[in-house]
Amino acid sequence: MTEGFEARGAWAAAGHGMSAAAGHGSSGERTLAPFGRRRLPVVGRREYGAYVVISVADPGGPAPDPGQFAMLAAAERWGGGADERPFLPRAFSVARRHHDGTLDFLLEDVGPGTNRLAELDDGDDVWLLGPLGRGFAPPHDGRRPILVGGGVGIAPLAILQDALGPSPLVLLGFRDVDHAAGAALLCDPNVATDDGSVGHHGFVTELLASEMDVALRSSQARSSGRRYIEVYACGPPPMLEAVRALCAEHGVPAQLALESGMACGFGACFGCVVPTRDGYVRLCVDGPVLDAAVLEAVT
Ligand SMILES: Cc1cc2nc3c(=O)[nH]c(=O)nc-3n(C[C@H](O)[C@H](O)[C@H](O)COP(=O)(O)OP(=O)(O)OC[C@H]3O[C@@H](n4cnc5c(N)ncnc54)[C@H](O)[C@@H]3O)c2cc1C
Ligand code: FES
Repeated sequence: MTEGFEARGAWAAAGHGMSAAAGHGSSGERTLAPFGRRRLPVVGRREYGAYVVISVADPGGPAPDPGQFAMLAAAERWGGGADERPFLPRAFSVARRHHDGTLDFLLEDVGPGTNRLAELDDGDDVWLLGPLGRGFAPPHDGRRPILVGGGVGIAPLAILQDALGPSPLVLLGFRDVDHAAGAALLCDPNVATDDGSVGHHGFVTELLASEMDVALRSSQARSSGRRYIEVYACGPPPMLEAVRALCAEHGVPAQLALESGMACGFGACFGCVVPTRDGYVRLCVDGPVLDAAVLEAVT
């Protein structure tokens, strides 16, 4: 386990042989966020090509499980004025937690909320509510984890790798070299880019397909009835659907961190519902990590 990850719950108990999660999500128990949002100082800002990482000091906050998220808003200039759009807070995966409680968030500037957060620096404050939701569960039955990330979806895989240690295979896909700079957040990743500017020219799911082929052909996989690997993925819906379909085809379990529009983040607004084989679930409380087996498809 590397610097910064404080194991609790399922992760603390895991000799990497924990029983499966309750419900649709993966992590058996939720880390309960303190009631109300907290005003916290930004203590760092770093650029990784197309991405920005902001660091927020949260020494008294609970340690998040890998895959949990927080609702963030800038403390100042977050809408309401004549020229500013009134903002709801926005959902962000916790990308890393340092020993002193500092939380890192990886941002891609896609609209007004991410734009405002990405310009924050030392001396600014954020409002933070979290950690929220159900994160990833430790690998079941000692399986070897394969982490698959696409774009800004690599964020929860960084804290997951902190929890798992350096052993997992990490496959990351980006659209180009500028975005591939984000791969520096994880140790020893295999990178694919859509335009071939870095690493494999093509989709990260092509890397996954060949790695699964190798893993499932191994003698250990044959003797364990294909129960040898477990896939952890976060990325855009087409990537997650390709991961889900590939894993379903080969009988490999997968935990998928999904996204949907979130207004509250704690189960009150029903704005984040997604369909599962068992009906609709609220992604903010039943996810954002769902077992791939409960999904007909990722849309
Ligand atoms: C659990 C969770 C974890 C997330 N983690 C991260 C993260 O680590 N880093 C990061 O940069 N972003 C993350 N996001 C997405 C982030 O919340 C949105 O990018 C953000 O809300 C966009 O706000 P905006 O005001 O900048 O843009 P908006 O104007 O609100 O949206 C810009 C564009 O992004 C699309 N969009 C907005 N929100 C979402 C969403 N939730 N899912 C898919 N598309 C969306 C819109 O349709 C639009 O095309 C996460 C979302 C969820 C639900
Ligand atoms: S975001 Fe409000 S219920 Fe999920």
